[in-house]
Amino acid sequence: MRTKVVIIGGGPSGLLLSRLLSLENIDNVVLEKQSREHVQGRIRAGVLENGTIEMLRLAGVSKRLDNEGFKHNGIELSFKNHGFRIDLKKLTDKHVTVYGQTEVTKDLYEIIEKENGNIINCAEDVLPQKVGEINSFVTFKKNGIENKIMCDFVAGCDGYHGISRKVIPENLINVFERIYPFGWLGILSETPPVKEELIYANHGNGFALASMRNNNLSRYYIQTSLDDRVEAWDDKRFWEELKRRLPIEASESIITGPSIEKSIAPLRSFVCEPMNWNNLFLVGDAAHIVPPTGAKGLNLAVSDVYYLFKGLKKHYLFNDDKDLKNYSTKALSRVWKAIRFSWWMTTTFHKFPEQTSFDQRIQDSELEYLENSIASQTVLAENYVGLPYEEL
Ligand code: APR
Ligand code: PHB
Repeated sequence: MRTKVVIIGGGPSGLLLSRLLSLENIDNVVLEKQSREHVQGRIRAGVLENGTIEMLRLAGVSKRLDNEGFKHNGIELSFKNHGFRIDLKKLTDKHVTVYGQTEVTKDLYEIIEKENGNIINCAEDVLPQKVGEINSFVTFKKNGIENKIMCDFVAGCDGYHGISRKVIPENLINVFERIYPFGWLGILSETPPVKEELIYANHGNGFALASMRNNNLSRYYIQTSLDDRVEAWDDKRFWEELKRRLPIEASESIITGPSIEKSIAPLRSFVCEPMNWNNLFLVGDAAHIVPPTGAKGLNLAVSDVYYLFKGLKKHYLFNDDKDLKNYSTKALSRVWKAIRFSWWMTTTFHKFPEQTSFDQRIQDSELEYLENSIASQTVLAENYVGLPYEEL
């Protein structure tokens, strides 16, 4: 079998790239390790920047998003149980859209299948081979049978634990990493969100976040230590701790209920440079990870898709490789700004185990400054709603 682009990984970045290429009649095959049900069962952040929405619109999957997504013109921040609002709309003339990543993935799967796209689920032992040579190919097993797909390009959209980054010789890449000394304990509950907008809270006991999926589905998080276990947090303990950390007004009005999902996730920042090796291009979590504070993960994956899609389109339609050659540089320039922003959100809102009273005062004054300075709020707002994509 032969195709133009083999896409390894059928998460949001792989699916979006596949759909955009198909719309330009550029043949591609998606090889996904897991079943469709598994991929669609993952619960991940759902705050979409305008650039992300535009890309989903280009892919023809914005109908449900336009109907069901919540437009948020602001966010609430709090410290010492006192909240204040960042008016995103007023500061940037932009908003964000709250729409679960799970839904984005479902929408993409549906349209790709309807339009006879090529997604191979449950593909085992996927391996890109002869990368950079004229006869590159990808091998995999399906139902125990060995398969081989010849291709021009490989898009590594297979997340942090995928194979694509690992086949690049170690001496050809640089890795930058920060592991944070805490995790997030998150729950989903079928209760109305405590407020129409998200609340990011800095509290003496640690960070808390109030988010949502829809009018009767709330998503809440609290910072926990790395060795904490989900079993140690029954619902009662979770709600008590969350209330302690949220601004007073929110903790007084929050409606609690049984959790329908509960999990702990570690926080890390990670970047791999460059984001390609010859004709193998890394996209999304395969190349970089951000901590969830600021919800940049999915948005960054989509901006990578933007740069790679443009590059592949120019290659096939105009025989011009300039943008493909610049892919890594262009994508990384935006990636690093989001890495910086989510690192800043994380360090400003969390308690670090080694935090001194000096560090505490610095955090408090950072937040006080933010509350009272339009300049400081503007910096946060323009990063939160998403920095522009660079024209190619
Ligand atoms: N072979 C094939 N598929 C693989 C392999 C492999 N060896 N390893 C992983 N995969 C699949 C995973 O099962 C998953 O479906 O690749 C997909 C990668 O998807 P994500 O991890 O969601 O990564 P990505 O598509 O880049 O999405 C962007 O940014 O911060 C996050 O929450 C955000 O998940 C979102 C991500
Ligand atoms: C979420 O809803 O899961 C969410 C929202 C905002 C974040 C992180 C996670 O910054």
